[in-house]
Amino acid sequence: MTQDRREFLGTLLGGAGWAMLGGCATLKDCQQAIANRPVRRNITTLAANDPIIAAYKSAVTQMKALPADDPRNWIKQADLHANHCPHGNWLFLPWHRAYLLYFERICRKLSGMADFALPYWNWSLTPSVPAPFWGGNANPLFDGSRTATQASVASASNVGPMVLNSILGEINFETFASTHIAAATPQTSGAGYGRLEATPHNYIHGFVGGNMGFVNLSPRDPVFWMHHNMIERCWVQWNFDKNNPNTNDSDWMNREFTEFCDENGNPVRVTVAETLLFPVFSYRYDDVGPGAAGSGAPAPDSKAVQDAAARKAKAGAKVQLDVLQRFPAPQPVTAVIGQPTAIRLPVDPAALRAGPGNRTLLAFDGTSLDHTSDFSVRVFINKPDATVETPAEDPHFAGAFAFFHHAGADHDHGTGNFVLDVGDVLKRLNIEGGTLELDVVLVPFPGQEPKTRELTVTRTELRIAKDIIERQQ
Ligand code: C2O
Repeated sequence: MTQDRREFLGTLLGGAGWAMLGGCATLKDCQQAIANRPVRRNITTLAANDPIIAAYKSAVTQMKALPADDPRNWIKQADLHANHCPHGNWLFLPWHRAYLLYFERICRKLSGMADFALPYWNWSLTPSVPAPFWGGNANPLFDGSRTATQASVASASNVGPMVLNSILGEINFETFASTHIAAATPQTSGAGYGRLEATPHNYIHGFVGGNMGFVNLSPRDPVFWMHHNMIERCWVQWNFDKNNPNTNDSDWMNREFTEFCDENGNPVRVTVAETLLFPVFSYRYDDVGPGAAGSGAPAPDSKAVQDAAARKAKAGAKVQLDVLQRFPAPQPVTAVIGQPTAIRLPVDPAALRAGPGNRTLLAFDGTSLDHTSDFSVRVFINKPDATVETPAEDPHFAGAFAFFHHAGADHDHGTGNFVLDVGDVLKRLNIEGGTLELDVVLVPFPGQEPKTRELTVTRTELRIAKDIIERQQ
């Protein structure tokens, strides 16, 4: 390794960086490899015969044909998810980032397309499963277990631009990206769902249905990887374009994942801190993030530009959410499909008036979870006549969330914690306190006969909270 290359990569990643680049011999080579890193494109902009789609089909076909004990085998890759994926905690984003990167490298190697990058499905702009994933069993990207059809349209309440913009407007890492667990807590333990995971992420799993509706089976549907690439794109946009810092908590940064394998089937270890540089070193998006390919400008290959992107990737902050006051519902609640449920919260007007920088959150704690393909949840404020038809544009719409769970009765069904930000809707409705009525509507997925019809929530409350975000200098 040349001296200048060692220094450059040392600045970027404290030494481990060059492994991420594959091989590059000189500093100039490394900088060019970074500048020309493969582009992850919106799949709806690709023609049916685009080489990227052909390469993905070829890779999927080959992975399905690999011996069952090859770690790159299709089912083996899905089993990584069944056994190790974090949901409802702050490892959700970095774990899936690493899962995608190593999967992408396997696809690149097997397809033989040297600059292959996974496309993404922008369900916010194109809310139906994209055309390349249909056409019957002759198509390796088709999955016959889906309950969605090519004509099904995902609900704007969960994935529409208005909802996604609001989520991308979050400034608090944990409310955006799911909440903390301690260093010693198993990575698969749930803590609390951030809004990106709870709303568009979980919803799309239930909406596509079939394998996609289950934690243990979802990566068997080739569209899984396009869905998670969109989640990854949202995180890149949030960090780099919207300038939001991740947490710098060492319980998060130092977490290590040991279950992945590289394109040759060899085991790899990767820490969360290392994943922060993937979008700077290993891929870029066509429209967001560092080196966005669609801007028309040539990708920057100067050390200064790459350094700046790496610094931004690594800049964390101390991030907390301090809850100042709570206004709980007096008892647990059960909502049933077809019977809109009202939950009443007595809220002290003085608390709503205090502290202009405070935020108002609606928390649903201890919520039953095994409803993935059965229904999603929409919440309205002071809208007793809300129904499944009431649109997200209704001024009383407060937010939505959905579920994502394991198949099989042998799995612990558990409960989860969800949160909505209701600051805007309270302002819009001029609500200054008194009794707040939440109207909860369970919305079945089209074309599916729900197996569960009831949602239980142990504790519903309005929280007055404050974001604590102290950037590192
Ligand atoms: Cu680990 Cu969308 O799933």
